[in-house]
Amino acid sequence: QMRTTRKVSVWPVGLVGGRRYERPVVENGKVVGWYTGWRADRPFAIDMAGFAVSLQVILSHPKAVFKRRGSQPGMQESDFLKQITTVEELEPKANNCTKVLVWHTRTEKVNLANEPKHHLDTVNIEV
Ligand SMILES: *[C@@H]1O[C@H](CO)[C@@H](O)[C@H](O)[C@H]1NC(C)=O
Repeated sequence: QMRTTRKVSVWPVGLVGGRRYERPVVENGKVVGWYTGWRADRPFAIDMAGFAVSLQVILSHPKAVFKRRGSQPGMQESDFLKQITTVEELEPKANNCTKVLVWHTRTEKVNLANEPKHHLDTVNIEV
């Protein structure tokens, strides 16, 4: 699915942000918000495992940088993506962001500290 990215595509990520998953919220095929347990006010509230960028977009924004330092913690993705795209332009993958196809795995026990007690999302996703 990443292979069909025209500019910048996005999808849900499993086991991230202290939740079972985070995902872009999609309505009528467009990203309209973010299901996340942390700083939903971020312009792009998405983990770096949750997007792909066409090489053409990178080449046409030669000054765009993904900063290892200099971004606030958790803002690296937003700081990068806002240099090259807009939320309106994002291309949802994984069935309009209703499937978890990638996981933010770590060699440690899963942290679900941010998982809501009650179901808050509009879809049910297997992780
Ligand atoms: C995503 O949603 C749009 C608009 O509702 C729809 O036209 C499209 O078929 C959906 N795509 C998939 C893969 O379900």
